[in-house]
Amino acid sequence: MQKPQVAIVMGSVSDLDTMKGAIDILKDFNVPIVAKVLSAHRTPKDLEAFVIAMEQLGVRAFIAGAGGAAALAGVIASHTTIPVLGVPIETKSLKGLDSLLSTVQMPAGIPVATFAIGASGAKNAALFAISLLASDSSGVAKKLKTFRKKQSNSVRRTKV
Ligand code: RP5
Repeated sequence: MQKPQVAIVMGSVSDLDTMKGAIDILKDFNVPIVAKVLSAHRTPKDLEAFVIAMEQLGVRAFIAGAGGAAALAGVIASHTTIPVLGVPIETKSLKGLDSLLSTVQMPAGIPVATFAIGASGAKNAALFAISLLASDSSGVAKKLKTFRKKQSNSVRRTKV
């Protein structure tokens, strides 16, 4: 088995529908990933151990999706200097504004790159992780350019 390059963490299995958008894109780009449900609040010690284990395995980015009082991305970032990409999950009560603010409002010194609420954020976090990997892999860079070209072409072909 290849060593994972991106670790995807979600606070609950209820986040999987959203985070599947990130998982699918990374799989399409043949990026080796590991995906896990771990919570900053419900399993804090397991989360810390996982981050340390992933760092030792050499992952290049963490993608963290969580909703509500979403501490997940920030807590991961507190345990590592590897880039952490936060995905605020849409919530029933506050439509994900709670998740967005919890993820984006990090104290100076512990950065989290925060993406849009929900499905777009999950997809863009994956594409951003791919951009990070593309900086030292011409194969990944080429795939990313092809992805962009196809996307542009599909817009051009749209008939209304
Ligand atoms: C967060 O609480 C999770 O990331 C999830 O978005 C939210 C609700 O979790 P469940 O009650 O559905 O497990 O920690």
